[in-house]
Amino acid sequence: MTSSSRVLITGAGGQLAAAIADEYAARADVRALGRADLDIANARAVEQAVSSFRPTHIINCAAYNQVDRAEDELDQALAVNAFGVRILARAAADSGATLVHYGTDFVFDGRASQPYTEEDTPNPCSMYGASKLLGEWFALEAPKGYVVRVASLFGGSRARSSVDRIFDALLEGREARVFSDRTCSPSYVVDVAAATRLLLERGAPGLYHCVSSNHCTWHELGLEAGRLLDVDARLLVPTPAASVAMRAPRPMYAALSSAKLNAIVPMPTWQDALGRYITEIRRRRSEPSSHQ
Ligand SMILES: NC(=O)c1ccc[n+]([C@@H]2O[C@H](COP(=O)([O-])OP(=O)(O)OC[C@H]3O[C@@H](n4cnc5c(N)ncnc54)[C@H](OP(=O)(O)O)[C@@H]3O)[C@@H](O)[C@H]2O)c1
Repeated sequence: MTSSSRVLITGAGGQLAAAIADEYAARADVRALGRADLDIANARAVEQAVSSFRPTHIINCAAYNQVDRAEDELDQALAVNAFGVRILARAAADSGATLVHYGTDFVFDGRASQPYTEEDTPNPCSMYGASKLLGEWFALEAPKGYVVRVASLFGGSRARSSVDRIFDALLEGREARVFSDRTCSPSYVVDVAAATRLLLERGAPGLYHCVSSNHCTWHELGLEAGRLLDVDARLLVPTPAASVAMRAPRPMYAALSSAKLNAIVPMPTWQDALGRYITEIRRRRSEPSSHQ
């Protein structure tokens, strides 16, 4: 990556995309296109975007992420998560660009008892997971294709995930229901963005897990957030997954191992990431509002 690199970010309206754009802002020529400006499922539009900007790197943050709705809208999930990625992979191959695509822990069935590695065989238990797995395969067909599996994202200027909703509830003194029996690898988008850049500079194309070191249940995550925020732990309502009706099944154990990535870019622990995020939240909240 040099200052002459041209980075095309797709799905620019999303949570991770905002962090990726920040990471590259001062380091490359960045074009961040939201869905209204570039629909990745439209091959002609992708071809035009690539031929006009001539990116050296295409970082795909576009995704259909409605896990429950995907059970009934498989065509829409596939159009973005699988065939849209195939369009980008072909455009990257034709133009010589590097492609980065983000995968998910939901490609696994959650029956493991230790963190999944890149060597473990995926077995998605939802349509969303299946559509994302197809996307991984297409992305890896690009000669310079990186698939970076992330999980339980939080933070950044466009924070809006399940983890962020727990923080919001605690900050506002509301109860937060947290799974007591689902294990995850909570990951700070700022860390994922930094790791993506360093991986591209130092690592070979291929499949990588990119999550915080260590893992936890959602309840443990909530307890640590509550401790850092100094709020009453009774706001957290530990909830067994079986007691919550969800259209799509979720993996119960979805911890990922970033050991392969850690040899190139060490990932901080989730506790460290959470601490930095909460410092960032406090800083933002203490800034005088620009609105009257
Ligand atoms: N969030 C997580 O916890 C998590 C966990 C595992 C993996 N991931 C993966 O990480 C990546 C980034 O996730 P994120 O949380 O940042 O996602 P996000 O906030 O939901 O953003 C995805 C963006 O993609 C856009 N999009 C949807 N269809 C599109 C299309 N056809 N063309 C162009 N853009 C389109 C969406 O626009 P609209 O809002 O207008 O639909 C949205 O702005 C995704 O690959 C996701 O699957 C995320």
